[in-house]
Amino acid sequence: MTTATSAPHLAPGPKGAPLLGSLGPWKRNTAEFLLGLQRDHGEIVRMRLGPFLVHQVTEPEAVRRVLVENNGNYVRGPLYEQFGVVMGKGLLTTDGEFWRAHRRAVQPVFLKNAITDIIPNIIRATEEMLETWERKAAAGEPVDLMTDMLRLTLVTLSRSLFAYDIKPDSALLKTIVDDVVEVMFRRGTATEMLPSWVPTDRQRKILRIHRVFDRIVADVRRSYAETGEGPLIGLMERATDPATGEPWTDQQIKDELLTVYLAGHETTAVSLCWTLLSIAAHPGVQEELDAEIATVLGGGAPDARSAEGLTYTKMVVDESLRMHPPIWIFPRAAVEADALGGYDIEPGSSVLLSPLVSHHNPRHWDNPLAFDPYRFTPQAIRERPRMAYLPFGSGPRQCVGNFMALLELRIIVAMVNQRFRISRIPGTELRYGSPVISLRPLKDVMVTVTPRERSTGAPRPSRRTAPAACPHHP
Ligand code: HEM
Repeated sequence: MTTATSAPHLAPGPKGAPLLGSLGPWKRNTAEFLLGLQRDHGEIVRMRLGPFLVHQVTEPEAVRRVLVENNGNYVRGPLYEQFGVVMGKGLLTTDGEFWRAHRRAVQPVFLKNAITDIIPNIIRATEEMLETWERKAAAGEPVDLMTDMLRLTLVTLSRSLFAYDIKPDSALLKTIVDDVVEVMFRRGTATEMLPSWVPTDRQRKILRIHRVFDRIVADVRRSYAETGEGPLIGLMERATDPATGEPWTDQQIKDELLTVYLAGHETTAVSLCWTLLSIAAHPGVQEELDAEIATVLGGGAPDARSAEGLTYTKMVVDESLRMHPPIWIFPRAAVEADALGGYDIEPGSSVLLSPLVSHHNPRHWDNPLAFDPYRFTPQAIRERPRMAYLPFGSGPRQCVGNFMALLELRIIVAMVNQRFRISRIPGTELRYGSPVISLRPLKDVMVTVTPRERSTGAPRPSRRTAPAACPHHP
């Protein structure tokens, strides 16, 4: 007896080279390669990356199926493994019951109504930074924007969630963040395959990261033991395993603490950097922003209510997260066979979600290379498929810190623009596209900062400005 089997329905995609598949173009310029896949093959694209069979999925209904409807079938998988080298078994790297229990334990601090408690910390850390800008402006010194944003978001996060006043040494911080980015992203080099006791440069970097973070974790826990303060460390110290009733182990607390420090500060810093640069590059946007900030804040510091009223500032932040989503790709692995957009997804194969590619899909975004905050009016949002925009992912694994990040972004953008004009010093390279974890400018971003009273721009009435192409897009 013969059974009828239907013919496989495979998604279109690049042919690739024998054995390596599309690893060559992926390594040369990942962002350009992935954008090109959507342009040339569509919204569900099949490819090989070395040993991995991968589908890039940007069709909104298929994205919903992976992240929401059938999310139980899509786990972290092999492409996420490298994150574990630094973050161990934390929220980002685990699945199933372990992940669920940990997510439940930390979630209360991050809820929309609870997170507004951190506003005073955002304001204090931003004021401290702006005071250093006053001195630099007076001395005619440039500002290294990425480093300042990293320090600002790290200090804010640490004080807000752990009541711990971290003193980041800028040079060390930058080295460590760069090391983290490097070791967590597979480049397919031979040294990645060596056992961990082989003293490669990579292993030395991993050891250095752990040495620095072990000290931070010990300090945070000691400070909590002494003061009982710090909402997130408090939840972690009191959390228990639902199956055994046992408290979290030291290793579990370390892994979650590290996950939050790493997932929470670099992403927000990258986004701040792009947002401030985009505003500086678009005088019309700057004008509307100035007018709103003057009207809503009137020179004062934001609070929970006025931050909600910064409607245009929110739209600017949303548009910046569209153009430059800090987490621009994230993978899943299919446990069982599935179909996406009518195409077969084999068990064990990988699915790649890409906010960057989804956010540049001309089917949902007119003139996607133009920076236009008016894409985020309530009506425009309603008219677009929800899954065309996913800077924080979606479904149960959506970024736990999304309200915190948005709050920081809106408040910091408003406070910086209340006091300063930023201009990029020519010569800074703003290209991105190398395979790093977050969508960071490739080199240092040096800017000059000019106090508002010394710059030409007094706020003028609000008006809708024509969108202009973003000058720092690949
Ligand atoms: C602009 C800033 C941020 C962006 C763009 C961002 C983006 C993302 C994305 C896309 C994911 C989902 C990844 C996936 O589904 O595989 C994620 C997860 C996560 N994010 Fe964020 N994030 C930001 C800020 C933060 C902040 C401020 C925190 C915490 C303080 C944070 C902590 C986390 C954690 C713990 C996860 C894992 C959640 C889980 O799987 O349960 N993120 N983030």
